Amino acid sequence: MSKINVGLIGLGTVGGGVLKVLKDNPDICIKKIAVRDINKKRDIDGLDTSILTNDPFSIVQDSDIDVVVEVMGGVNPALDLLESAVRNGKHVVTANKELLAKHGEELFKLANEKNVVILYEAAIAGGIPIIMPIKTTLAGNKIKKIAAILNGTTNYILTKMEESDVSYEEVLKEAQQLGYAEADPTGDVEGFDSAYKITTLATIALNQRVDINKVYREGITKISADDMKFAQELGYKIKLIALAEVNENNETDVRVHPMLVPETNILSTIHDVTNAVLVEGFPVGKVVFAGPGAGEMPTASSVVGDILAIQQNISAPEPLPMMRCHHKVNANQLNIADTTNKYYISLTAVNSPGVIGTIGEICGKHKINLSSVLQKGANSRENTAKIVIITESSKESNIQNAFSELNGNANIVKVNNLIRVME
Ligand code: NAP
Ligand code: HSE
Repeated sequence: MSKINVGLIGLGTVGGGVLKVLKDNPDICIKKIAVRDINKKRDIDGLDTSILTNDPFSIVQDSDIDVVVEVMGGVNPALDLLESAVRNGKHVVTANKELLAKHGEELFKLANEKNVVILYEAAIAGGIPIIMPIKTTLAGNKIKKIAAILNGTTNYILTKMEESDVSYEEVLKEAQQLGYAEADPTGDVEGFDSAYKITTLATIALNQRVDINKVYREGITKISADDMKFAQELGYKIKLIALAEVNENNETDVRVHPMLVPETNILSTIHDVTNAVLVEGFPVGKVVFAGPGAGEMPTASSVVGDILAIQQNISAPEPLPMMRCHHKVNANQLNIADTTNKYYISLTAVNSPGVIGTIGEICGKHKINLSSVLQKGANSRENTAKIVIITESSKESNIQNAFSELNGNANIVKVNNLIRVME
């Protein structure tokens, strides 16, 4: 074991946490830190500003640096930087889920060629240990399914909507004021962040390369206070779920969208910014990993764990072989239209005799079996009624056809929402 030199690219939320945790570690020397603005005031005790640079390429080219830690984010220039670090024989630790989802294949291939490792525990579910457990402790398993809550911001928003019967827009504003949600929350609320994370998680867990471009993604912006209320009355919570599953035909289903989760499922009990990953495999059965999915110190915990794993193994001829990429096959990814799900459908209909019959007829025509139909109050002034349906398992393409036909029917004022239901 020897002391190693680390180059840190990024000193924001995560980088600041990493520096604080490693400050007094005798085995790690932070030799250089790249930031965008070296004159920015930073709230980090004892920061040696002489090691700051605004040239991150000087870090990946520095022959004294053993490990490059990228906690800057984004694809450019992160991709060039990490390719260059690997080409120069440096091990890499990154928290960058977007980069891994979009360019993981080429980066891992290059790392194998150069006999270095790229570790990324912090990129998926922040402080929750999930990558190393899947690659090592669970290595003897055939994992067939993952269902996870991988985004803290959206889970916080959904939890607050559930607790206080307020609209999505109001909670988002509050989350932004509290600093949970970013000024531009698109990446989180439209499901991009979860899609990046499940792409990499599914790739390693299912042991086949998943293409981010074929991952279906839908965010939480259409969830209303009514949906929250009706779901609760029916015994469900609404969560943004990232799913990955291989079926008996070896087709792989990877997607992110809101779901009604039964109150009996552990994922329904995950509140606020907490993340959770439910892994189902053989021989282990079901295992749940839960904890802080984001934030300075939880994310730093994962980054530092990766740095120390490299430090302890750096002298080996082939450091950390189990943590490398061993993928040989690409996933045969299912289109969302070919998936089968139960659905929650909320609609506003004209309040007159026979309307529920019309809805049943349209659903029947599209081979959709209804499990329950509930009228949730009438508006006598507008002569309308809200109707909530839960279907049996149905094919997505049939549901989409029924959705269009319901929307075009004279007795249906509007189909308010269509949300998949977890079994
Ligand atoms: P952040 O607070 O915005 O920090 C980004 C840092 O990178 C800043 O120090 C910035 O410099 C520096 N930087 C940006 N562009 C640069 C460039 N071209 N050259 C040099 N330095 C540059 O971001 P963060 O929240 O720490 O996130 C970092 C990464 O961790 C992202 O990939 C993110 O997805 C991932 N992550 C974050 C969390 C979390 O809870 N925040 C959790 C898991 C994973 P300045 O300080 O000068 O602006
Ligand atoms: N924006 C992410 C979240 C944290 O809200 O979970 C970074 O991975």
